[in-house]
Amino acid sequence: MEYHNRKEYQIVYGLITVLGILNVVLVLIWTKNYLGGFAWQEDPLHQFNYHPVCAIVGLVVLYGKGLLLYRTLYYRGKATLKLLHTATMIVTFILAVISLKCVFDSHDYRLVPIPNLYSLHSWIGLGTVILFAFQFLVKQPGWATPPPYLKTQPIEIFIT
Ligand code: HEM
Repeated sequence: MEYHNRKEYQIVYGLITVLGILNVVLVLIWTKNYLGGFAWQEDPLHQFNYHPVCAIVGLVVLYGKGLLLYRTLYYRGKATLKLLHTATMIVTFILAVISLKCVFDSHDYRLVPIPNLYSLHSWIGLGTVILFAFQFLVKQPGWATPPPYLKTQPIEIFIT
């Protein structure tokens, strides 16, 4: 990143970090205090509450942070950044899987189950997670060997 707009980047980055934290705090207050808190499959109604929490912490906040790592910590070595980026993406992926499991379970394990994938939100959400997983497949073969990675990089950028 050019030196002249580093300051602006830091201001905008600080702002989205505050908004991200606020987002997580609000969704926690909502799910815990207004939707009755968390449970697993024995109580599918409350198992649902993991869905928005994991989706927001993972796919909204961590994913964004992971994408911007190379700019935010530009002064760190490439190897450290790659490791941090990969770790962030793995945690994001795990949270996405938990988030999806909880919302599917919350439909399937009710006394009277309701159908899955009946909304635009659900199809767009599923598509997003599939594309996210696809990025791992496209990218990982080139992780340690730059030349093949350069060929797959445009695909990754397009998906992102
Ligand atoms: C940003 C990442 C998100 C993804 C990838 C995602 C994905 C999905 C998917 C795939 C389903 C369908 C599950 C099924 O049919 O059994 C679903 C359902 C649902 N999600 Fe999300 N979701 C996300 C965020 C959220 C958030 C933040 C909320 C709440 C504020 C939410 C609320 C719901 C609700 C109420 C349903 C059940 C009704 C429906 O299918 O539309 N989701 N989500």
